[in-house]
Order: sequence, then C-alpha cells, then structure tokens
Amino acid sequence: MKNKIYVAPMMDWTDRHCRYFMRLLSPGVFLYTEMVTANALHFGDAESLLRYDDSEHPVAVQLGGSDPVLMAEAAARAASSGYDEININVGCPSDRVQSGQFGACLMAQPDIVADCYSAMRSGIDIPVTVKTRIGIDDHDSDEFLTRFVDTLSAAGCRKFIVHARIAILDGLSPKENRTVPPLNYDRVYRLKEANPGLEIVLNGGISEIGHVEDVLKRVDGAMIGRQAYHHPYFLAELEHHMNPQVPLPGRRDVVEQMLPYIKRELAQGERLGRITRHMVGLFAGIPGARAWRRYISENAYRDGAGTEVLLEALDAMPVAA
Ligand SMILES: Cc1cc2nc3c(=O)[nH]c(=O)nc-3n(C[C@H](O)[C@H](O)[C@H](O)COP(=O)(O)O)c2cc1C
Repeated sequence: MKNKIYVAPMMDWTDRHCRYFMRLLSPGVFLYTEMVTANALHFGDAESLLRYDDSEHPVAVQLGGSDPVLMAEAAARAASSGYDEININVGCPSDRVQSGQFGACLMAQPDIVADCYSAMRSGIDIPVTVKTRIGIDDHDSDEFLTRFVDTLSAAGCRKFIVHARIAILDGLSPKENRTVPPLNYDRVYRLKEANPGLEIVLNGGISEIGHVEDVLKRVDGAMIGRQAYHHPYFLAELEHHMNPQVPLPGRRDVVEQMLPYIKRELAQGERLGRITRHMVGLFAGIPGARAWRRYISENAYRDGAGTEVLLEALDAMPVAA
C-alpha cells in the first residue's frame, strides 16, 4: 500500500514516538509529521524538531509558513535530514496560524503559496506537496479550489492532499473545523477528473476499509487522521487487507516490539507517558481495552516508570486480547 495510504499530520499527536509505533503496525503507510513552522526551524532547535527514526520511512515533514525565504531554508534543512517529501500546510484554521499568515487562509493567496513552493523546490530534489481544504469561508466553489490548484500546478506542484471540507476562519475552533463544515468528497473527485495528471489524495472522515477502497477508485490516495490515532490497529488491518502477504501483527507482539525503543528513549531522558500516550488505543474495540487504557494512563506518568508498566498492563487484560 506504499504511497497510497497516508497518516495525516496531527499536531501533538503524530510526533516521532507515535510514528515509530504506527510503523510497527503498517510497514507501508506513508507517515506525516506534525506541522513544524518555518519560524520554529529558523529560530529554534531544528535538529530536535526534525528528529525521526530511520524505520519511519516513507515519512513526510509538514511545514507551515508563508515567507518564501524562510520556507526555502526550512525545506533545505528537511531535505538534508532525509525526509521523503515536504508538505506545505494550507489547511490549518487556528488563530495562531492565521496571525502568522499561513495555513488555510493562504488558499485565498495562491500566489504566495506558489512563491513558497518555487523557492522550496529550488535546490532540493524531493517532492514538495500541498495539503489544503476544498475552500474557506464563503469561497466554497469548484472555481475557488481550481484557481488555487492551477496556480500551484503552474509552479510545478504535482501532488495535493485535500481535506474534503471548507475551513471557517472566523468563529469555529480548529476542532469544530474538523467536524462542523460538512464533508464533500465530490468536490475532490471532480478536482481529480479535471486534473488527471495530478496526484490527488483525499482526506477527511475515512474510518473503514471499504471506505478506503471506494476512495481509491476515484483518486490516487487516502489520508487517515483521527481513526488512525484512536484505533491504530486499523492501520495493521488495512495494510493486511491491501497486502495480504504482510501478516497481521498481534497486538501484544507490537507492544513487545516497542519495548527496546522505549528503553532506548528512557535512557535518553524521555518520560514513559510521552510514548505510551499514543498506544492507549491499541486494543480499542476488543475485550480488555479499558483495562489496558486505564492501567497505562494511571501508571505511565509516575516518576521512574519504565517498560514494566506495559507488561503489567498486558497482564491486567484477558489472555485472549
Ligand atoms: C489533533 C489534531 C491535530 C491536527 N494537526 C494538523 C496539522 O498539524 N496539520 C494539518 O495539516 N492538519 C492537522 N490536522 C487535521 C488532519 O490532518 C486531518 O486533515 C483531519 O483530522 C481530517 O482527517 P480525519 O477525518 O481522517 O481525522 C489535525 C487534526 C487533529 C485531530
């Protein structure tokens, strides 16, 4: 399923620990980092912000910003760190992002995004892609999306990830902006029909295998966000369904495969709860899920907590799980 199924960029969720864990569940899924701003890379600890494990490939870094010079600098750093793709965030609606002039508000200024794209591409040889919405506020039409995509494709961009709902920039929180504006897949399908040469990945509300299959009949890829985070085993089931030669891993085996990684991270000063918080959904939907979740939530943040917490949490569950 390489290069067809994607895990969405999610701030505070798809950090490197989460991505390491997801990679154990699915060898083929394309992972995306949380958004990293070009400013943060310029002024902050770029090495730590761009850190990832080699096992994460294929992995894209998502960048936020609207200053071509800073975006080009960020792209160069990301490319030299070895990422497989760089994605520009033109979909995030938060206030903080609006004041920094990036995210979804940039859909109304495609020339700025195209300038960033061109500056980023010169000097690197990995793909630069764009994640966007189908519109913003009152701009909820095929024409508006087409104008945006045409401007970027004229600059050379070949791959677009489209979250199939508009963003309301005034009055809705980022969370509401992921549920309140209705999903409209047809807009994304029409975009693909009008641009058969572009790679179009649909995002938004995908939570079942059949759903993924339907989407893949119409566009080039499917990006999954909340379902992959809350029910990470879905990634394993999806991988196995699409690639039957990849065996379905046991949930307990995945926990055991996490242990050496966790030990290594703890030795470097990381706290157990920072890693295990991404694993609480592993048993979601099967008996023992609550016991697992509760044991980890109650014990992983204790001072000195180590990998024994995970083994004890496994013991707290029915053997069948
Ligand atoms: C906690 C959280 C954080 C998010 N952070 C980002 C982000 O950093 N960049 C981005 O482009 N989208 C972000 N999103 C939006 C997701 O990438 C995705 O577009 C959205 O959740 C819809 O997909 P889904 O219905 O499969 O979850 C975030 C979503 C969530 C739930």
